[in-house]
Amino acid sequence: MSLPKPKNIVILGGSLGGLFMGVALMRLHRNLNIRIFERNPTALLHDQGAGVVAGPDVQHFFSTHDRTRTHLSVASQQRLYVNKKGETIDCEDRTQQMTSWDLLYHVLRANYDGVKSEYAKVPDPEDGEGSVAYEYGCTVSDIKTPKSTPRPDLDFSQPIKLTIKHHSGSISTTEADLVIAADGPSSTLRAKYLPDIKRTYAGYVAWRGTVSESAISTSAAKVFTEKFTFFHSPNTQILAYLIPGHNGTLEPGHRLVNWVWYVNYPENSPSHMDLMTDNAGKRHHITLPAGGVREEIWSGQKSYARDVLPHQFAEIVGKTVVPFVQAITDVVSSSAVLEKGRICLIGDALAGLRPHTAMSTSQAAFDALGLAGAIERLLDSGDSGGMEVLTGWEEEVLGYARRLQKSGVEMGERSQFGEHPMAE
Ligand SMILES: Cc1cc2nc3c(=O)[nH]c(=O)nc-3n(C[C@H](O)[C@H](O)[C@H](O)COP(=O)(O)OP(=O)(O)OC[C@H]3O[C@@H](n4cnc5c(N)ncnc54)[C@H](O)[C@@H]3O)c2cc1C
Ligand SMILES: *[C@@H]1O[C@H](CO)[C@@H](O)[C@H](O)[C@H]1NC(C)=O
Repeated sequence: MSLPKPKNIVILGGSLGGLFMGVALMRLHRNLNIRIFERNPTALLHDQGAGVVAGPDVQHFFSTHDRTRTHLSVASQQRLYVNKKGETIDCEDRTQQMTSWDLLYHVLRANYDGVKSEYAKVPDPEDGEGSVAYEYGCTVSDIKTPKSTPRPDLDFSQPIKLTIKHHSGSISTTEADLVIAADGPSSTLRAKYLPDIKRTYAGYVAWRGTVSESAISTSAAKVFTEKFTFFHSPNTQILAYLIPGHNGTLEPGHRLVNWVWYVNYPENSPSHMDLMTDNAGKRHHITLPAGGVREEIWSGQKSYARDVLPHQFAEIVGKTVVPFVQAITDVVSSSAVLEKGRICLIGDALAGLRPHTAMSTSQAAFDALGLAGAIERLLDSGDSGGMEVLTGWEEEVLGYARRLQKSGVEMGERSQFGEHPMAE
């Protein structure tokens, strides 16, 4: 007798991880029913307007699955290190591809559910891609997997039940054969099954922002144009690189300089609490969104920039109109496969990496590509087994996550609390 196969797949979270998963599954051409549930109440997720390094797995994902064939990145040709005077102290030829979160998001939506935008042309649908949905304003609030059977292998005969809270306040339920949690570093599903895995604050934040390349001086353009530029000094690090501009444009003159400035704020210190309280008096824990930074805090930060940063960096910080702040945190799950293979964790839900690795988006792409491959093998497998396919995938993604998580912690601790070799 042939066993039921997973056909009805629910993905929690419609950010990059959830969309990588959805696109990779539709490209299997197996007529799957794929639904993404995203808690955000608007049809499109809001651009944080910030840069993403397109690592090897991101490039591999788009070269395999992007049918819009959009040019995604600005190439950085060199890594530069500057001193406080703004002089280059070290330089390494190394090409890296720099893109933006909003460009990746819109290209993925064009591929997944045909969302039109200035970023990408929507491709024609192909046979066998199955049905896809992106349901926003839907928070998955609970999940019940069927009582376990004595079978040791994967069993899809009974559905998983999900409870969904709609933005309108109503509650509904739905069913799935397989649930993939791409619900980010504070994952609801991970918290339910692995409550001891906690997200912890690393003791510093990233101030972030962008400025149009047309707005910067010649001396700033010299160190930032098509370069990945760093400045280190005790307890501080700032870096910048060029990314695509509005609506994904790659046209020189219209691109953006993206900067990330790591600054220490001891947990719950007065300066930390002050920083994370927005201009409406609301306290944030992880991200202080664009537009929320209080005017007096931002002017203080810009004047601090003039005191401690090389003039080119102080200039781009000073010219930024809407900065935002992101607390740096650590979290890494102990498993990627839960409930006898009925639930899988990917992306930031599996491991929230420190941004120094520049690999969070790559990790999400790596996890999704691998899991789609495993699901394809499950669909092709014979009568029994299947669990070893998922545990094989789990071993790979946990290895990847642990290695990057560890190197992110080492890089961050060294530059914020230790002695960086490039620091003066
Ligand atoms: C709006 C947004 C903007 C971002 N901008 C940048 C950027 O500019 N630069 C950068 O480097 N990184 C950015 N990131 C982070 C980046 O997307 C991730 O690090 C990486 O791509 C992998 O993330 P992920 O998809 O696994 O998780 P995340 O990107 O954290 O996404 C998780 C998603 O799950 C949704 N969600 C959470 N819980 C539930 C639930 N119970 N039910 C339904 N949905 C749920 C969240 O609303 C969110 O959209 C951004 C993330 C978001 C959400
Ligand atoms: C981006 O595209 C939107 C939608 O077409 C348009 O309204 C907007 O003016 C564009 N922005 C820029 C800077 O080109």
